Amino acid sequence: MAKQQKVLLLTGPAPDGKFVIESRDVPHPGPGYILVEVRAAALNPVDWILRDMGLWIKEWPTILGTDAAGVVVELGEGVSNVAVGDRVMYMGTMVDKLTTFQQYNAVKADFVAKIPDSMTLEQASTIPLTVATAALGLYDKRQQPDGGLGLTPPWTEGGRGKYSGQSIFIAGGATGVGQHTIELAKMSGFSHIIATASLHNEAYLKSLGATHVLDRKLAASAIADAVKAVTDTPVTVAYDAVSDPALQNAMYDLLAPGGCLLRVGPSMIDPAKLEKGDKYVAHVFADVQLPAQIEVGRSLYAKLPEMLAAGDIKPTKLEVLPDGLAGVPAGLDRLKAGVSAVKFVVRPQETP
Ligand SMILES: NC(=O)c1ccc[n+]([C@@H]2O[C@H](COP(=O)([O-])OP(=O)(O)OC[C@H]3O[C@@H](n4cnc5c(N)ncnc54)[C@H](OP(=O)(O)O)[C@@H]3O)[C@@H](O)[C@H]2O)c1
Repeated sequence: MAKQQKVLLLTGPAPDGKFVIESRDVPHPGPGYILVEVRAAALNPVDWILRDMGLWIKEWPTILGTDAAGVVVELGEGVSNVAVGDRVMYMGTMVDKLTTFQQYNAVKADFVAKIPDSMTLEQASTIPLTVATAALGLYDKRQQPDGGLGLTPPWTEGGRGKYSGQSIFIAGGATGVGQHTIELAKMSGFSHIIATASLHNEAYLKSLGATHVLDRKLAASAIADAVKAVTDTPVTVAYDAVSDPALQNAMYDLLAPGGCLLRVGPSMIDPAKLEKGDKYVAHVFADVQLPAQIEVGRSLYAKLPEMLAAGDIKPTKLEVLPDGLAGVPAGLDRLKAGVSAVKFVVRPQETP
């Protein structure tokens, strides 16, 4: 077993912080933990946001990265749900200061999902953070400041198909978060799954379960009119993966009384509208191990392998970047500049 590993360190906050590759000890998996050789790590917007803004980071240097897939190489005491050699995926968590731009991770065994044979490790690495954002947003209990909409998860008894006859509107259907929100909405049975995206993504989003795809370039008022034109079924759920002020307000207005809106970013809704209090708004913070939301996180991870194997949850399209961890900085610049329905993935073991 290797004693040292390569990690991608961010030396400090912007503008002076730099990414450097350094060696660090390979962690030891304590009781309940496993050691994973990280074979694929996906890049997410939060990585460049943290690089540029340093939010939440209390200690420097730091390692970023919130998505990984790899092979189990060692078991800590008491672990029985996975074996050495299993292929698993998992997300970073603030709870364990677990981040993934490195060659090995010690991970809590309860929060890994075995990967079906039909899926590559690179594909699997595209899923964890975004599926958690979609799932916690829709199904975590109603709580503030961070929580979900309190819907019944489709992987629990009585949840599958429960929302038949209702409509959901998703801003940003081609984001990784939006793609998994579409898949979960389909499992939940929503009759109309209406999403905004660039129209070149229409067929792809329909293959995931979207019933209608609206051009994201339309003005917010035109998008609202188009939603009303495609369904007279009340929109009971709205999921905002985009954070555009005009559109978030239009989404709130679209909701039927008693409807609910989930946002991944800040609230942009006119406070005067919120005063009426007839619609519920929540903000998701995607970490399946945070104590306040660990119940849904644990139940998601218990059923995720089945949902992956059944094809209910699919990987995002991806591009593998060269040079292992050394490829991350340029990848984050490209991600910040804008991508369309693709995730960038690095192979940490290929780091020069
Ligand atoms: N709160 C949390 O815990 C949490 C967790 C994860 C992510 N997030 C946030 O969620 C957002 C999505 O993250 P992600 O990783 O899923 O993003 P992503 O996959 O990198 O997003 C790329 C997609 O954004 C779409 N897009 C950009 N502007 C749009 C607009 N005005 N309308 C509709 N679609 C638009 C593009 O769609 P087209 O290609 O169709 O143009 C593109 O495919 C980010 O802001 C991220 O920071 C929050």
